Amino acid sequence: MGSSSVSAHIELVHYQGLLLVVSLLNFWIHPTTAQVTVHSKNALEGTDVHLYIHHTAPKAAGFLWYKGETIDSHHYIASLSLNPRIHKSGPPDERVIVEEDGSLLFKNVTMKDSGIYTILVQLQGCQKMIACGRLTVYPFVSGPTLLASNTTVTENKDAVVLTCDTNAHAIQWLFKGTSLTLTERITLSRDHRNLTIYPVLREDAGNYQCKGFNPINSAKSASLALDVKFE
Ligand SMILES: *[C@@H]1O[C@H](CO)[C@@H](O)[C@H](O)[C@H]1NC(C)=O
Ligand SMILES: *[C@@H]1O[C@H](CO)[C@@H](O)[C@H](O)[C@H]1NC(C)=O
Ligand SMILES: *[C@@H]1O[C@H](CO)[C@@H](O)[C@H](O)[C@H]1NC(C)=O
Repeated sequence: MGSSSVSAHIELVHYQGLLLVVSLLNFWIHPTTAQVTVHSKNALEGTDVHLYIHHTAPKAAGFLWYKGETIDSHHYIASLSLNPRIHKSGPPDERVIVEEDGSLLFKNVTMKDSGIYTILVQLQGCQKMIACGRLTVYPFVSGPTLLASNTTVTENKDAVVLTCDTNAHAIQWLFKGTSLTLTERITLSRDHRNLTIYPVLREDAGNYQCKGFNPINSAKSASLALDVKFE
């Protein structure tokens, strides 16, 4: 395939020349030299998202989409037939639509829409092409809240625990605006939500922030100032 636009966020899952008997559909699928690919996608919940396809068929007769990797009526989502006229059929809520180029449009996508999607492209003369791709929906990261066990502490005596409350699974800690360096004194809980400093030293004084993130969006907490008293 001549696709050079493979990035970290786009995998191309691609099947060609499949010779299959799909018993449920009760017909033979003949091998074809044409190819189809589905462009996998990362999306933010609540947005409208296309799962685009690319195919080399000179003339497609129809597109059928399935959730998962199985082509049967239980997994059928929506279809568009171009022959002789455009005819769409799909779920009654119209939240998922097959576009004229065969791509699948999700309106107001939710986390539950994450998963593998399979397309069956019908060609002229009973030929079929099949491919699948993955849609991954990530939550909108709302502003994390940062709390401290104590914001005024004494050097060489106190411990301080900072807790980051966020709906994101991944957390980054910032000290004075840059990535915090962990040491024997400065440790994270296994889930990265709690930062413990013990014993506190004067060099630990300053602004702390935490950032919740996922592959497509992130949010930072407000700064929290730690004051360290020393002799
Ligand atoms: C999008 O879906 C969410 C629930 O999944 C709903 O609360 C919200 O109102 C929907 N937004 C639009 C614009 O339809
Ligand atoms: C915070 O630390 C200071 C200094 O060690 C101490 O005097 C104070 O009691 C602590 N406050 C709380 C709520 O633990
Ligand atoms: C994080 O800190 C909070 C408050 O200090 C505590 O209740 C919680 O158990 C800690 N969680 C972990 C995983 O250490």
